[in-house]
This record gives sequence, C-alpha cells and structure tokens, in this order.
Amino acid sequence: MKIVAVVGSNRKESYNKKITAFMQKRYTDKVEMEILPLENLPMYNEDEELNPPSVVIDIKKKIANSDGILITTPEYNHSISGFLKNAIDWFSRGDKVMVNKPVMIVGCSPGALGTVRAQIQLRQILNSPGVAALTLPGNEVFIGAVHEKIDESGELVHEPTIQFLDTVMNNFMDWILKMK
Ligand code: FNR
Repeated sequence: MKIVAVVGSNRKESYNKKITAFMQKRYTDKVEMEILPLENLPMYNEDEELNPPSVVIDIKKKIANSDGILITTPEYNHSISGFLKNAIDWFSRGDKVMVNKPVMIVGCSPGALGTVRAQIQLRQILNSPGVAALTLPGNEVFIGAVHEKIDESGELVHEPTIQFLDTVMNNFMDWILKMK
C-alpha cells in the first residue's frame, strides 16, 4: 500500500513534520509512505493552470499513483495554513488528483484544541467538487499540547497518542481497501 503525506507546515522544526516522520517510521511494515516536497510548489496561479510548472506535475503524479493521502495540518488563525491551501488548490485543478482518493487527517498544535477548528474547515475543503476526496469519517486526531508529547530528539513519546494513531492508521487502511 502506497501513501503520500501532505504536511501543512513549511517550518523546519514543525511538529506536524515530526509527527509525520514518526508515522512514516512506525508504519513502515504496513505502508510505504512518501512525504511530498510541498515547499517546491509555487503560489497557485490560474493563468498557469493549463501549463503548470513541472514541479506541480511531478507532485500531482505521485498523488495520482498513491492509494491514499495522509494530511498533517497545523492551525493558523483558526484555519489551515496558506501553505496547505495552496497545495490543495493546485491538486484540485486540471487533473483533479484528489478525487475519490482516501484521505486521513492528523493535526497537532501546542494549544489545547490541537487544530480542531482547522480540521473542521479542512474536511469542508476536501468535500468541494474539485477536491472531492474520500475523507475517512470520524477518526479525528487532534494532538493538543504537542510540545509536551515530543522529546528533545523530535520523537513522539506520548503513549496514548501513539495508541490512538495506531488505531486510526488501521482504520485508514481498512477504509482504503473498502473504497477500492
Ligand atoms: C499559529 N498557531 C495557532 N495555534 C492554534 O492552536 N490555533 C491557531 O489559530 C493558531 N494560529 C496561528 C497563526 C499563525 C500565523 C502561526 C504562525 C501560528 C500556533 C501553531 O499551532 C504553532 O506555531 C504550531 O507549532 C504550528 O505547527 P508546526 O509548524 O509546528 O507544524
């Protein structure tokens, strides 16, 4: 099973990047997970839609060839980051590569709510006609106070969170098979 990971933060020390890297390593026996290089994407421009830069084409191909998408999202001003929205906008036009793709959402923040508001909006975006992804129902992973759950080496060490991620990852793999 091949999954691509879309990480919504471009920050070097991003907690969402660390959670994604943790998942990539932990589930390596179950899924092949590739983290997409979204930092290479230019700002979306409709003028370039019919002839997009090669970096856009390359990333979209990886999504098209995947069995599912993991999105890890930060919360910026009660919404998703512009960085993540920009990527989804590219993916939603021309070849609509997210249509009917199973998607699992994880989000973390140092705050108490752990990206609840961003994820509500993200689910709405994923349901728009150009995106039309098959978002895994339920299975809401809100990792609050994430700075207390990751050690100095960047490893997720909070056992209840790890157990919940295991459950949701299993549910996601079942969802992918069901949707095929
Ligand atoms: C934030 N942050 C934040 N946190 C939150 O829980 N709710 C919010 O609405 C916001 N708003 C917000 C806006 C902007 C512009 C920034 C830069 C930050 C804090 C945010 O959760 C924190 O910086 C995370 O560490 C960002 O995720 P990464 O980069 O660590 O993955």
